[in-house]
Amino acid sequence: MAQWFQPGAKAQPATRSLQQLAGQKGLLFGSCLALKYCVQAPEYQQLFLAQCGIATPEVHMKWSSLSTQPGVYDFANADRFVTFCTTNQLQVRGHTLIWHEALPAWVAPQLNAGNGRMIMTDHIARVAGHFAGKLYSWDVVNEVLDPGSQRPDGLRDTPWLRSCGADYLELAFRAAAAADARALLVWNETYLEVSNGFGQNKRAAMLALLDRMLARGVPIQGIGLEAHLRAEQAAVLGDASYEAFLGQLARRGMKIFITELDVQDLTLPADPGARDQAVAAVYNRFLTATLRQPAVRAIVTWGLADRFSWIAGYRPRPDGLPVRPLPFDANYQPKAAYYAIAESLRSAPPRG
Ligand code: XIL
Repeated sequence: MAQWFQPGAKAQPATRSLQQLAGQKGLLFGSCLALKYCVQAPEYQQLFLAQCGIATPEVHMKWSSLSTQPGVYDFANADRFVTFCTTNQLQVRGHTLIWHEALPAWVAPQLNAGNGRMIMTDHIARVAGHFAGKLYSWDVVNEVLDPGSQRPDGLRDTPWLRSCGADYLELAFRAAAAADARALLVWNETYLEVSNGFGQNKRAAMLALLDRMLARGVPIQGIGLEAHLRAEQAAVLGDASYEAFLGQLARRGMKIFITELDVQDLTLPADPGARDQAVAAVYNRFLTATLRQPAVRAIVTWGLADRFSWIAGYRPRPDGLPVRPLPFDANYQPKAAYYAIAESLRSAPPRG
């Protein structure tokens, strides 16, 4: 197997900016960020600004971060995030308007068929209206598919579906377009990138729902593929059926974004060198296939350095060793994954 450059290798400068490489191809590169990381580690802030051209607030724009009581909103942290980004020439991905998680405690118990649509559209008007004109894109709906729900349309069983009905995606996109005419309106979704039965079912469900919405003139401009990848699924990532799916999205006029990329390493060997090589190979294979599709416009990872990764809590290693899912290590040094991402950006065809 090809060896990716190791930290400290002299053959390539270690700090070549990923945004610079992406920019040469008409792409954006970025990561999620939480303001507390910058406070805890100024080195991380420096790394972030050196590498990124776009940022997603990891928590600050979620409903539960903005509002704890009905109708009462506090935008202070989200505004601070946007100011930090605009001052530093970073674009901002708004994340996220309608999701079944990160809801304030009052929302789900109160939702019913009589008030659901109003509560949803009020929230969207308020939040998207607050940031109108300032964001690159909005994740209008997040993680709405679940083939496990056994519904013919593949929609996940959530309080939104139950209270608003199956056309709640349409409602959300129309409300977002009315509140912010500028941000690209995106449907962000998990597991579409995985070419197994579950992933294929999700792809089919998305295309069918998308066709229905586009026929009705729903203002949807992009698809976000989260891409929380698992190293052990390498064989079902980045294959021909995945590339064909990206083509089907592109033919429907969708811009495509990789929105939350990381590689879970919990099933890999303990040895950090071997683990980093395997993680790097997944990044390279997945991104090389992804970037062949010209409708792909941005690559956004869910964190830049292993010190600040949600995978530590979400998918920890059974042996208790620190996880290594991101391109930079816990001391902000580039790992094999960094060079693998850089290589896939270098070999990507330019966007038009
Ligand atoms: C995660 C954050 O990283 C965590 O800090 C938070 O506790 C939970 O949410 N899909 C998404 C993201 O769309 O918003 C999630 O982020 C990860 C899964």
